[in-house]
Parts: sequence; C-alpha cells; structure tokens
Amino acid sequence: MAKAKAHYSCQSCGAVTSKWAGKCEACGEWNTIVEEAPSLTTAIPKGQDRKGGKKLNFVGLTGENQNYPRVISGMTEFDRAVGGGLVPASVTLIGGDPGIGKSTLLLQVMAAISKSTTCLYISGEESIDQIRLRAARLGVAAAPVQLVAANGMRDILSTLETIPKNSVVVIDSIQTMYLDTLDSAPGTVAQVRAASAEFIRVAKAVGFSVILVGHVTKEGTIAGPKVLEHMVDTVLYFEGDRGHQFRILRTVKNRFGATDEIGVFEMSSQGLAEVTNPSSLFLSDRSKDVSGAAVFAGIEGTRPILVEIQALLAQVPYGTPRRTTVGWDTNRLAMILAVLDSRCGLSLANHEVYLNIAGGMRVSEPAVDLAVAAAIISAKFDKIIPGNTCLFGEVSLSGEIRPVSQMEARLKEAKKLGFTRAIIPKGMKAQAPEGLKILAISELRELIEALG
Ligand code: TYD
Ligand code: MG
Repeated sequence: MAKAKAHYSCQSCGAVTSKWAGKCEACGEWNTIVEEAPSLTTAIPKGQDRKGGKKLNFVGLTGENQNYPRVISGMTEFDRAVGGGLVPASVTLIGGDPGIGKSTLLLQVMAAISKSTTCLYISGEESIDQIRLRAARLGVAAAPVQLVAANGMRDILSTLETIPKNSVVVIDSIQTMYLDTLDSAPGTVAQVRAASAEFIRVAKAVGFSVILVGHVTKEGTIAGPKVLEHMVDTVLYFEGDRGHQFRILRTVKNRFGATDEIGVFEMSSQGLAEVTNPSSLFLSDRSKDVSGAAVFAGIEGTRPILVEIQALLAQVPYGTPRRTTVGWDTNRLAMILAVLDSRCGLSLANHEVYLNIAGGMRVSEPAVDLAVAAAIISAKFDKIIPGNTCLFGEVSLSGEIRPVSQMEARLKEAKKLGFTRAIIPKGMKAQAPEGLKILAISELRELIEALG
C-alpha cells in the first residue's frame, strides 16, 4: 500500500501544495499555508476484502414522498428569490459586501417568519444590544425572534440538536463560527468548511432550515473555498451599489427552484422595503431629452425589467481611448464597437466610450447588445432616441440581430410601462401586444437607419 503523503493547503484560498511556503502562490497571502493530515487516496485499498458492505436498494422516480410545506415569509421578494419559500431542512448561503444589508434583510425576514414558526438568530458579529436597537429601528421588536450572541460551535450545535423541527436558524456569519477541535483561527478555510459541514449535518438530522451569512472577498466571491457553495442547497448574493438605494437578492444556485431569479429591495431609514415593480423604479428618473440613452427591455430570472442604458463619447486626438463600463462587461462593449466599425462603418477609434447601466443595475444578458449599440449610435450622431422606444436583441459578430428568449414577456412589460415602439430582432413567432409598434430588424445597419 502506498504511503499517504501529507499535504499543505492555503487557509485563505484553499489551494493545495506539496511543500510548505511562506507565501501562497495562488492568492498571494502570507503565512496562510498549513499542513493538513494525510489522507488516503483510495477508500478501500486494492486487494482488500470488500465483503461486509450492505447491498443498496434502488427505487423508481415515483413513489411515496413526505411532502413538507415551504416556509413562506410573506416578503414576496425574498420568497421569490429562494424559489417560493424556504424548504424545510435546507441550507441557504447569503453572500454580500459588508454593510450591504444582509443582517438587516435577515432580521426582517426572521421577524416575518416568526409569526408561523420558531426563529432563532445566532449572531457572532453583533451584540444583543446592537441587534435589539436595529430591530427597534426596523419596527419589528415585537416579533418573537429568539436571539443569542455566540460563536462557539460546541455550544451552538448542542443547542440546535434540541430545537423543534421546521424551525429557521440564521447564522450571522459563518466566518465568525469557531470549532475548538481545529487549531486554525475563525474565518479560515478549514474552520468555515468544517463549521458549514456541521450545520448542514445537524440541519438535515433535526429537520430545521439554516440561513448562513457569508462574507465576500475583494473579488466578490464568498470568502472561503468554492466548496462552500457546493455544500449548501441554495446560494444567494445580496448586491447593490452603496450609492444607490436599491438592493438585489440574486439566486446563483438553487436545488429547489430556478436560478437567476432576483428579489428587489429598496434601503430606507426603516430598513428594506420590497420593490414589486422594479422597472418603474429603474426608469423613474430617466433623462428623456438627451442623446446617448436607450431603454433596454430585459429579463431577470422570470421577471421582465426595463433599464436605461447610457453611453457617452468623448473625442481624443491621440493615444489609446478609454472604454469604461459600469454594470456591464467591458469585453462585450469592445465587441459591439468592433461590429459597429467593421459591419456598419461606424468607427469610434478616436473616441473614449463610457457605458453605464442606470440605477446601479448589473446586466449580463446578451439581449442588451442592441440597446447598447443604439445608445452608442445615438451619442455618436447626437440623435435623441424617442422616450417611447425600447429595444432588445443580441448582436452577432456578423452584425446580425439574433432573436432572444421571452420576447413576448419583454414586450408586455414595455406596453405596461407606456412604451409605444419596440425595436426587436426579426423572427418573433408570438403576437405583439396591441398598441405597441414593432420594428423588427435583422441587421445592425438597419438600426442606424431606424434611428435616423
Ligand atoms: P447591515 O445589515 O448591517 O449590513 P451587513 O450585515 O450586510 O454587513 O446593514 C448596514 C447598513 O444598512 C448600514 O450602512 C446602514 C444601512 N441601514 C439603513 O440604511 N437603514 C436601516 O434601517 C438599517 C437597519 C440599516
Ligand atoms: Mg451583518
């Protein structure tokens, strides 16, 4: 049998090396590499007796299921993000920048859920007084949420083993939890991983659901290894621009529902308020009479959302002009500029291009291409796109406009918000809503003509 070798792993990023080093080559952190116990490479070494294992029983896809009802909080934006309520015995991870409002959101959700089931809030970051103060400010101090400030896993786990089934437990945050069986400090990969595994185990065994709060790193991923996201059932990111009022709860992974779903909230002095009609929020302070602005009819998850795309061009006589985007991918902008140049003869080689998705929204759909192109064309020719017009469509490298998903839903939402003209890709099968004039185009060149 081969001798198991010890290995070393970085406590910051989780990279594994065969040698100890002062600095992790993967993430650049100092003094984070520690030796981990040797592990066997094969579970049952070759040649060893495999008898004694029980035979597994396979079953069909249909059968008697225990059907547990989901825990509905009544905050529809939150319920939507988790796929229609919390699933009992599930583990949810919420990540987000510090100060974005994770604790605020969870305290409000807990207060709402506590009307129907036992709610426990375990805080490793804030004192009881701080949380009570916040609860008073949010106007939820009367809700029967049970609070405790703790971070020792031994105490927490023995407590959780005795709580009623179907309770909901919040751990704020997983990075502050401490297992005394490991000698690394709280917040290290080993601690985070082990503490999460313990929470998952006890949650499934007892049958309560856990919401873990996770900090994010500078790069925007949940601190600790990616493995944390694999371990849990649902991963949500709470994001938003600190300068803007609204926050988005985005589903990144969900074993019990759709991903890419979002919940929209607005941060006020009374905490987070739900935004049931996000399009009207994003379009509320729209600049109607300036060039370089186009309205994109987008889809986030299952919901249509209209946002304004703003482009600004500045002529520079020499040097490499800047291309800057806020809320969108810079590479994608470079592609649109290249297509405009080589397929439409619209060269912006000596222009700086700034692109902004209004309101601090982030768009990743390719369907936004056409609206971006329109904003750039409008800025270039100083032509105002009429305020009643919205656009969507994917632009291919050949300059073709490709159809996108859920065209009908986008048009319906545009109609609802009072738009009367839509520029869309050719080839929509379904009926456009009445009162909405459709201009279907198949080439980017036609867009330039359409905008005059
Ligand atoms: P918090 O929930 O503590 O953030 P996190 O847990 O993600 O670190 O949110 C703190 C921020 O929210 C803080 O900057 C103030 C703001 N806030 C409000 O604007 N209104 C409120 O009612 C509350 C409670 C917080
Ligand atoms: Mg917090």
